[in-house]
Amino acid sequence: MIWLRGRTDRIQPALDSIRHTFSQYQRRADTQETIQLQKTNWKMVGNLTSLIIFSILLLATLIGVPTVLTKVKKDKTCSEITHWTTISTSSVQPATMIPFISQNMNPLCTATASWNSTGITVAGLPNGSSSTALNGLKYPHDIYVYDDGTILIADSGNNRIIRWNHNATEGINIGGTGAYGSWVNLLADPIALAVQGNALYVSDVENYRIQMFPLNSNLSSPDATTIIGHYGQGSSLMQINQVTNLLVPVSNPSLLYMADSKNHRILSWNSQFNYTSVVAGQTGISGSNSTLLNNPLGIALDERTFSLYIADTFNNRIQKYDMNTISAGTTVAGGAGQLNNPSAVQLDPSGTNMFIADTLNHRILLWLNGAIKGHTIAGNGNAGTSATQLNNPSQIRLDSNYNLYVVDTNNSRIQRFDLISNGC
Ligand SMILES: *[C@@H]1O[C@H](CO)[C@@H](O)[C@H](O)[C@H]1NC(C)=O
Ligand SMILES: *[C@@H]1O[C@H](CO)[C@@H](O)[C@H](O)[C@H]1NC(C)=O
Ligand SMILES: *[C@@H]1O[C@H](CO)[C@@H](O)[C@H](O)[C@H]1NC(C)=O
Ligand SMILES: *[C@@H]1O[C@H](CO)[C@@H](O)[C@H](O)[C@H]1NC(C)=O
Ligand SMILES: *[C@@H]1O[C@H](CO)[C@@H](O)[C@H](O)[C@H]1NC(C)=O
Ligand SMILES: *[C@@H]1O[C@H](CO)[C@@H](O)[C@H](O)[C@H]1NC(C)=O
Ligand SMILES: *[C@@H]1O[C@H](CO)[C@@H](O)[C@H](O)[C@H]1NC(C)=O
Repeated sequence: MIWLRGRTDRIQPALDSIRHTFSQYQRRADTQETIQLQKTNWKMVGNLTSLIIFSILLLATLIGVPTVLTKVKKDKTCSEITHWTTISTSSVQPATMIPFISQNMNPLCTATASWNSTGITVAGLPNGSSSTALNGLKYPHDIYVYDDGTILIADSGNNRIIRWNHNATEGINIGGTGAYGSWVNLLADPIALAVQGNALYVSDVENYRIQMFPLNSNLSSPDATTIIGHYGQGSSLMQINQVTNLLVPVSNPSLLYMADSKNHRILSWNSQFNYTSVVAGQTGISGSNSTLLNNPLGIALDERTFSLYIADTFNNRIQKYDMNTISAGTTVAGGAGQLNNPSAVQLDPSGTNMFIADTLNHRILLWLNGAIKGHTIAGNGNAGTSATQLNNPSQIRLDSNYNLYVVDTNNSRIQRFDLISNGC
């Protein structure tokens, strides 16, 4: 809602009303590429004059004429709007509107594919030691992998974001200085990142905010803009409490999903409307029934069906939610002591088979759609620093050749397990 910026004091009643009524439609709106708002139900108790004045107010806010705003400031009719509705410009069925956008078109027959169980350290020190030098990392938590093998790393313990070019022996600082802090160019334990064009979103966890860094800056510690978290730690819709994973849908880049772990909920933020809503879990309530989550750390989205997969960490399960209807989650992995604090889930190109970072079991599982258990594709179950071991793996990403990148957090390194056979 860029057009409201700086004038919210004058139009706060209208804003509140829009917020309130818009919330009913937000969930559907989130899955639609284009929406329009249309007034359908006026409950204007005032006379014709107030109606005209209100219309001018609406027009003025849209086109930004401050003088008109000043004139109608005394009028209270803004709060009378009670019913707004969303209209899709094309289809009413969001799932069919969204084209499948795969990051690559190489075939993968996941059930029979195989990966090398010996990992290669692509960033950080291979021996598992942490370091503050540029050839090392310290408790990294997230990565973004480009098609050319360049990776961006949330180097959490070093309070910085690192770009590590393919085959490079050290990284380049692109966000944060390394110092712990809350100034515009500083970070305090950055643990999640997402890329949207030239914008890099970072969950700056101990500052309880989401920062946006420019990716095209040539400064080593550019200033960031805060997009979420202006109001500190908390559980209102304008606050977050430890966002551990960020996700921008390829098919709808104006959305940002957040695993707001300590609030036991998943949020979606619509940048077009600067509007946040809860899409899974109940704010502040942890539990294990089908509508609750307990410290959800990771998320993945199947964009063809708009199904959100959630690593429901303390419940040791993966929950799947349909974002078109959003009612309750179904458990698609876990149970019978099979997972121990899973903290990330990613999907194969079919959008149904899962790669799970089974964090406290120090392994990566491939869990096929409908299976009752997963099978290990990286890590041997014991924490260690050898090339076949992991220690608290916290994130997984695939590159365009389906090589598996694992954020090996407690070994302060990024491991790559290459695809041996695509199984087709
Ligand atoms: C697996 O990776 C290791 C280490 O890079 C390599 O020596 C080995 O040849 C690879 N195995 C296969 C089957 O590609
Ligand atoms: C790990 O490797 C680094 C760089 O070679 C070295 O400085 C450090 O002492 C090593 N750590 C251990 C535990 O061997
Ligand atoms: C990285 O190294 C591999 C193996 O040494 C090589 O095949 C590849 O071309 C290199 N890539 C880049 C971008 O330097
Ligand atoms: C990058 O740095 C160079 C040299 O310092 C400067 O000329 C250029 O304008 C900078 N580019 C951007 C996008 O800031
Ligand atoms: C978005 O909304 C928040 C909370 O209402 C507000 O503090 C912030 O300034 C808004 N951002 C923009 C760009 O309008
Ligand atoms: C789960 O528990 C919460 C809190 O007790 C409750 O509000 C919700 O209705 C329950 N959901 C189901 C599906 O039972
Ligand atoms: C991993 O590192 C964290 C943070 O230092 C620590 O609390 C935890 O005990 C470590 N876990 C293992 C298995 O080493």
